Amino acid sequence: MLGAPLKIKIPANIAAITPYPPGKPLEELEREYGVKNPIKLASNENSWGPSPKAIRALRNELLNLHRYPDGSCYYLVQALADKLGVEPAEIVMGNGSNEIIEFLVKAFVLEGDEVITSHPSFLMYQKIVQVRGGINHVVPLSNMRHDLEGIKKMVSGKTRLIFLDNPNNPTGTAIPPVELYQFLSDIPETVIVVLDEAYVDFMDEALQVDAFSLIRNVQGRCPVVFLRTFSKAYGLSGLRVGFGLMAKEIAESLHKVRQPFNINQMAQVGALAALEDEEYYMLTLERTAKGIEYLRRKVDKLGCKSSPTQTNFFLIDVQGNADELYQAMLYKGVIVRSMSAYGFANFIRVTVGTEEENNRFLESLSECIKELGYV
Ligand SMILES: Cc1ncc(COP(=O)(O)O)c(C=O)c1O
Repeated sequence: MLGAPLKIKIPANIAAITPYPPGKPLEELEREYGVKNPIKLASNENSWGPSPKAIRALRNELLNLHRYPDGSCYYLVQALADKLGVEPAEIVMGNGSNEIIEFLVKAFVLEGDEVITSHPSFLMYQKIVQVRGGINHVVPLSNMRHDLEGIKKMVSGKTRLIFLDNPNNPTGTAIPPVELYQFLSDIPETVIVVLDEAYVDFMDEALQVDAFSLIRNVQGRCPVVFLRTFSKAYGLSGLRVGFGLMAKEIAESLHKVRQPFNINQMAQVGALAALEDEEYYMLTLERTAKGIEYLRRKVDKLGCKSSPTQTNFFLIDVQGNADELYQAMLYKGVIVRSMSAYGFANFIRVTVGTEEENNRFLESLSECIKELGYV
């Protein structure tokens, strides 16, 4: 028997939130669809796993778990500062870069303040703003790219933050640096522009912008915060470690809204070891580039249309209903993402996998588009 309904009032802004739809977990597919050995190419993770050095460091750290972690992440922050040429005070660590998004909104957005994002882009920006009672202004992508002119037009005296995922998730497009610099010089100095670089490692060097000068030389220009993560190229999605690069004054505010031990001990140790394993990192970049090229070539041969990408995933126009294709592929044990909820009814998004996973994906895509009559 159900108990009496709760008498509490759920605030309207919370009631209005649709929970974030994560990629379907492998265990869930096994349980619900009864498929054996499913593969997941749906969350832009590193399909080859964490660095062997990170695994070793994590194993060794198990004996220290009775202690609280270092709340300042001293060694990890120091290593990042050395690598990126910034000061430790310009880095804030987060439980995934997701948490830095949360800190920024908590610290700078009050009820009724405005935040500008693109659609489609990473969904968490808007949800966190909703929690805070802020107002989302959502500007549609133009030709699969951020519409910087459209975003500029939305800026008002109440705008506090602008989130740009660069490269964009889900389209994989990056903003040409010349356009980005021009955009930043046109935005008022009172607005923080957040460049979410979760996939920066995979981006062409010519498209990467200089975080060092953008977080510092703010004379006559808006401040810029960079978001980075260990979840993608570094293969540590499960540990939850990300960070932000920003002016010290902004970092000070973020430290005020975070929990004292937001990065757990395993995360600190694993991320540090992964950061130091340059060889494995380079191998990941190489495998990713090769895998993307292979997949795109094969996908196009099947009669679908692949989109160019600056990331470890890409969009595919399947020339038919993406939701149906997604379901059909689930029965074959292959998890991808349908992009219909993002406004692309005929597109799926796929993350590059290991050679074996890529071939399994291609085989199942080929079978499903034939069965569904798309090609
Ligand atoms: C653009 C973008 N930003 C941020 C994130 C979140 O990353 P993290 O695992 O560091 O929280 C993702 C994850 O998919 C993403 O695609």
